[in-house]
Amino acid sequence: MPSALLTTDLQDLTLISRGKVRDVYHTSSEDLLLFVATDRISVFDVILKDGIPDKGKTLTRISLFWFEKLKGIVPNHLVTADIDEMPEEVRKYKDQLDGRSMLVKKAKVIPIEFIVRGYLTGSAWAEYKKTGTMHGMPLPEGMVESQRLPQPLVTPSTKAEQGAHDENISPDRAGQLIGSKVYTRVADIALKLYSTAAEYAYSHGLILADTKFEFGLIPSTADTSEDEVILVDEVLTPDSSRYWPLDQYVPGKPQPSFDKQYVRDWLVSVGYRKGLESGPGGSGEGWGIDEAVIQGTQRRYSEAEEMLKNESPEA
Ligand SMILES: Nc1ncnc2c1ncn2[C@@H]1O[C@H](COP(=O)(O)OP(=O)(O)OP(=O)(O)O)[C@@H](O)[C@H]1O
Ligand SMILES: [Mg+2]
Repeated sequence: MPSALLTTDLQDLTLISRGKVRDVYHTSSEDLLLFVATDRISVFDVILKDGIPDKGKTLTRISLFWFEKLKGIVPNHLVTADIDEMPEEVRKYKDQLDGRSMLVKKAKVIPIEFIVRGYLTGSAWAEYKKTGTMHGMPLPEGMVESQRLPQPLVTPSTKAEQGAHDENISPDRAGQLIGSKVYTRVADIALKLYSTAAEYAYSHGLILADTKFEFGLIPSTADTSEDEVILVDEVLTPDSSRYWPLDQYVPGKPQPSFDKQYVRDWLVSVGYRKGLESGPGGSGEGWGIDEAVIQGTQRRYSEAEEMLKNESPEA
């Protein structure tokens, strides 16, 4: 098995940010960034000590697949994922970067995560149980865990600074933060993206329970002064989305899934809880992952990719 690439080391390029999963670099073109998906995995916003070998490549392939499918709805940041087409200073690191990198348009990232939910699960289910609402919006009474929502809804959250947790907010609050005109326009795009993707996934045996989109603004190429909205970051990957096997879907309980939920559940089973982010017992050593769980995660991510790309699905 290949080893996991936890951090890139590209000495001649300038690192802009090391996110939980991605290393982002400047390139020789001022308006283009190098966007590299490492094999790091974060759960509960904590980066684990061990990575998932080649996860960054799987995430990159899945994002590319969806960028292509969804480009009719909104333009995206992808310029190329072919290393040989990238600037000279990038090409020389081909061995580290191949298959896990995209050259992208540098955008002013809109500081809201556009989560779209079609099913009641995760933090939305936790809130509903307490107050009957989802991000402050009322939902019908008597809903059960994992139930399909009457209609998909955008449930925004703030994009927290590094180290902090994203916070669920109401659409009204999001409108206050970024301007209600921009919010409404982008939320509408997010809904269209979700619905198109969910329908496609369903026909391939997968329920897309929810997902998170990020958008950015770039100066318009047309003569108008308005910035252009583009889809940025990763899209519809098992890191940013909940995918459930359709043939095992039973509302009223948690669902088996192809996403990080598997690692979250395992981490909790070995003692993780809020307050112990620094390691078992608060040790400061960080949290590792058992080999079997690494392989189980790889298997789930690959299976999701195969199902999405299956050209003759039975469903
Ligand atoms: N086209 C772009 N221009 C500028 N920044 C971008 C672009 N696309 C994505 N980004 C930003 O690059 C970073 C990607 O790193 P990563 O996915 O590791 O992020 P993170 O925010 O730390 O983690 P998480 O995805 O769990 O919130 C994000 O902060 C994202 O907003
Ligand atoms: Mg991210």
